[in-house]
Amino acid sequence: MPITTEARSHAQDLLQFIDASPSPWHAVQTMEQRLQAQGFVQLQETQRWKLEAGRGYYVMRGGASLIAFKPGHKPLGDSGFRMIGAHTDSPGLRLKTNAAHASDGMVRLGVEIYGGPILATFTDRDLSLAGRVNIRTADGFETRLIKFEQPLLRLPNLAIHMNREVNEQGLKLNKQTELPLLYGIADEKSSAREQFHNHLASKLEVSAQEILTCELNVFDTQPGTFWGAEQEFIAASQLDNLASCHAALSALLDTASPATTAIAAFFDHEEVGSESAAGAGGSFAGDVIGRISLALGLDEEEQHCAAAHSFFISADMAHAYQPNFPNAYEPNHRVMVNAGPVIKTNSNQRYSTNAVTAARFITLCESAGVPCQNYTHRTDLGCGSTIGPTIAARLGVASVDVGSPMWAMHSLRESAGVQDVAYMIAAMKTAFSS
Ligand code: CO
Repeated sequence: MPITTEARSHAQDLLQFIDASPSPWHAVQTMEQRLQAQGFVQLQETQRWKLEAGRGYYVMRGGASLIAFKPGHKPLGDSGFRMIGAHTDSPGLRLKTNAAHASDGMVRLGVEIYGGPILATFTDRDLSLAGRVNIRTADGFETRLIKFEQPLLRLPNLAIHMNREVNEQGLKLNKQTELPLLYGIADEKSSAREQFHNHLASKLEVSAQEILTCELNVFDTQPGTFWGAEQEFIAASQLDNLASCHAALSALLDTASPATTAIAAFFDHEEVGSESAAGAGGSFAGDVIGRISLALGLDEEEQHCAAAHSFFISADMAHAYQPNFPNAYEPNHRVMVNAGPVIKTNSNQRYSTNAVTAARFITLCESAGVPCQNYTHRTDLGCGSTIGPTIAARLGVASVDVGSPMWAMHSLRESAGVQDVAYMIAAMKTAFSS
């Protein structure tokens, strides 16, 4: 199928966005840089807010959640919010607190499993570390982001000569004993912990004693790429859900002067259930909406009117049909790559969609000139969930769950369609101006 030039440039931009965002803290930094470049002003949760019409604002919580918004020119109580939400975290491996240990002449780093990654996809890849480190200062400590560009770690497979059944049985890894990542040769002069901390310290140009704590995410150093006969597909890590973050942010940045107040909300901790101070299950979204309402002078009743006028789009990825595995899919709900946003429905409210909110999204896509598709999961398979039902319940707003189609969700190397990147941005832009 022909890919438009516009779609290719959006997809290229998405790949750069992901390459610059190897951890959720980096994803928020990448978004912050783009917001600041367009004049968005940071608001502090610790200070009073004053909002001016025609300006863009953003608030951060916990280092990996961010909400950006633009007040609309219609009265908020009469029009409500147009809100799009996505998550900044991706499933994978995170270093344990005391990760480095020496044994059998080698130093390895112990990892925790964050969320539900496909563990086998972490083998034989050029892995590295990115995250945040807290460093002592004269009056306490400061948080700094860290990213090792070069491959630092590896999880080598066992040779097939020692795992003869791997192609019949699949790759099974013991989570405690077979996941530690190979890091280096043990040093006789220093402990594994010292060796690793010295490495962190030299990267940050501080002394090892200045490092108080760190949170480090394991990422794949291979950059994102186009692929396919017409280069109509993309492959990258973290498409779930940085592709939705990128789309919502791009749509907001491209919405100059919205009639209704436009909000793009990005939450950490979705892959582990959203229950945290900065997650979608916490108070962040409600607090920000409450404070926008107060700053714009709404009384309590007008705040309820605003909620009743509001519409929330929960954007997460959707499972595209992979023809090698026809039995994994509901036959009447095969969604195709490069065929437009997917409306995800589950009557058990694993997704927040209902017939009314789906109809609303269909009409938005129609006015954007974008095709859309419907997905429901097989009845004999457990369905995943999103921030949609959580946000809908917390805020009491009408909500729909949508996403771009993709393959290999939760693999370290996911894939999707080029045209879908532009389709989703166009649908979201229309939502912000609806
Ligand atoms: Co997701």
